[in-house]
Amino acid sequence: MPNRLIIVSNRLPLAVEINGNTVSSRQASGGLVSAVSAFLGKGGKERFGEVIWAGIPGCDASIWQKLPGRTEEYVFLPIFIEEQLYDEYYNGFSNSLIWPLFHYFPTFVDYNATHFDAYTRVNDHFAQELLNNLNEHDIVWIHDYHLLPLAAILRQRFPSIAIGFFLHIPFPSYELFRVIPKRWQQNILEGLLGADLIGFHTIDYLQHFTSCLETILKIETNGQHIFWKNRTIKIDAFPVSIDFERFNNASDSQAVREIAAEYSNIKGERKMIFSVDRLDYTKGISNRLKGYERFLENNPEYIGNVIFVLTVIPSRDSISRYIERKKMIDEFIGRLNSRFGSIVWQPVIYQYDHLNFEELIALFLTCDVALITPLRDGMNLVAKEFIASRKDGKGVLILSEMAGASKELTEALLINPNDSDEISEMIKKALEMPFQEQKERIYAMQNRIRRYDVVAWATDFLEQLQQIKSVQLEFE
Ligand code: G6P
Repeated sequence: MPNRLIIVSNRLPLAVEINGNTVSSRQASGGLVSAVSAFLGKGGKERFGEVIWAGIPGCDASIWQKLPGRTEEYVFLPIFIEEQLYDEYYNGFSNSLIWPLFHYFPTFVDYNATHFDAYTRVNDHFAQELLNNLNEHDIVWIHDYHLLPLAAILRQRFPSIAIGFFLHIPFPSYELFRVIPKRWQQNILEGLLGADLIGFHTIDYLQHFTSCLETILKIETNGQHIFWKNRTIKIDAFPVSIDFERFNNASDSQAVREIAAEYSNIKGERKMIFSVDRLDYTKGISNRLKGYERFLENNPEYIGNVIFVLTVIPSRDSISRYIERKKMIDEFIGRLNSRFGSIVWQPVIYQYDHLNFEELIALFLTCDVALITPLRDGMNLVAKEFIASRKDGKGVLILSEMAGASKELTEALLINPNDSDEISEMIKKALEMPFQEQKERIYAMQNRIRRYDVVAWATDFLEQLQQIKSVQLEFE
């Protein structure tokens, strides 16, 4: 009987929606859910006896019972956390300390011992629920920054179980990591060392992690191996990817074509720039708008002849930094539209809502330029999705060099998001780029994403996890 795979993440991959008496769900947003769901949907689950996905469902048990407890690919293991504890763990320690710190926003960090305590308690609770359901032959794959201490807690109970950990956000440099209290630093690093394999998107993040291990825990690392508490642990880079074929073939769908035709009508003869992100201060949405404003100032011939469709997906909207950011973006767009707009034309078309897959692809296909400008981003899958969806070879990607994806998508027009002049110049260059050059750049990037798609990413990770387990056995 093949082993079971246990995926563990903060949230289950669904967002529950309640409409009167009707309870339904849609796929949650964000890179983690997209990548892991895509892998399981593309045959990943066939390799295991069963796949279980453990996480917080985002509703209480009475609502949860009204939803099917499984999909075709996996069975859900819902973990219920009491509301206030969840608030302190999720809005508090996870998203008001780790998230800003790891994305190089130290001034946004809220140092709060109650939040740290809640974070520890929720990780203990996850461990307890898992321990009630695990056996030592299971393969456990923990995802992301909400669960940094979890592997070490599970390890105490199951000394030889296979545990992999993947971080979907950047790992910051030692100079940043050291600003948090020492016992929090230790808890995070030692927590991760409970895993057998620790994965990051890029070599830079991996090197930051090893320099923290060397400086804070005084552990010597040997390239990609660490020897800790009688176990060999492997660390490596696995740049997360997408279901290339799904995006590449999406333009064949009738539904996508119909929506794209509607958008093309609205676009008319004008050029179109498009962006889509979760609402987050790390995404550089205001920087993008500043760059676009500079472009309109410097290139008045484009006034009336270009539109910028800006889609922002609601996210973490009970955290004050996110509420502030939303207000800033709303005001910026209002100012920009009143400064340059007229009765017949608005420079920015702004949508603050979720997009379904067909709408997303239709927007990718209609636009001439995708403008993605994060100030810091672990990877940024939207950049890869845009490139993959352009089977026609048309379109130009402008991408921030602060996104992990810029290490792979080197044929994009790379920009520094703090440089409005550079963004403005690149918008002009992108809008005027000859088709032949667009095609060459897009196809080169497509080849790279096709080769290392989401299945290759997850397979690579799970194979390396298996390998390190056999190395450990040899030394036992
Ligand atoms: C990023 C994180 C994920 C997270 C997603 C959405 O991609 O790496 O762990 O799920 O954002 O954020 P949310 O807070 O809504 O889960």
